[in-house]
Amino acid sequence: MSHIYKSKSLADSDTIAKAFADTLHCHFPRRRALVVALRGELGAGKTAFVKNVARYWGVADEVISPTFIIERIYRIHTGFTQYCTQLIHIDAYRLASAKELIPLDWERTLRDPRNIVFIEWPEHVADALPDDTVQVSFSLGDDGVRTVAF
Ligand SMILES: Nc1ncnc2c1ncn2[C@@H]1O[C@H](COP(=O)(O)OP(=O)(O)OP(=O)(O)O)[C@@H](O)[C@H]1O
Ligand SMILES: [Mg+2]
Repeated sequence: MSHIYKSKSLADSDTIAKAFADTLHCHFPRRRALVVALRGELGAGKTAFVKNVARYWGVADEVISPTFIIERIYRIHTGFTQYCTQLIHIDAYRLASAKELIPLDWERTLRDPRNIVFIEWPEHVADALPDDTVQVSFSLGDDGVRTVAF
């Protein structure tokens, strides 16, 4: 991880999410889906980060936390659209193991290079993550300042 940012507000989080999105260009073109693992405690800002990336890439639908339905899929309209057209947001908080991704057609998701997959609570499904998964970590300080590293 070579970028470390401090976030004091949702506006900072927006700037950080855009900076992150711009670093992804080095992963394209590619043969399989790109997976981004978002690590960090409850409330650290993982979902807010995905919302900001989605807005930056022109996702028209409102991005809402997939905690209860596990997975949501959005069409991307700007950004790396020559390579990647679908943003998949997974919250693995309620999953007990990588096996629980199988009903979500995980293998097919990974086979399609047009997918970019953001996963919250990746440690719950560690065995399912490709070796080249991009790592982002979030932490929330006692002073309310959030740190984002990637
Ligand atoms: N950078 C930020 N600055 C200020 N508030 C933030 C920031 N990021 C997130 N928040 C706020 O903190 C709350 C929790 O954020 P968020 O839902 O993104 O956390 P999370 O990491 O996804 O948590 P969970 O593990 O429960 O899914 C939300 O109310 C959100 O608006
Ligand atoms: Mg969340």
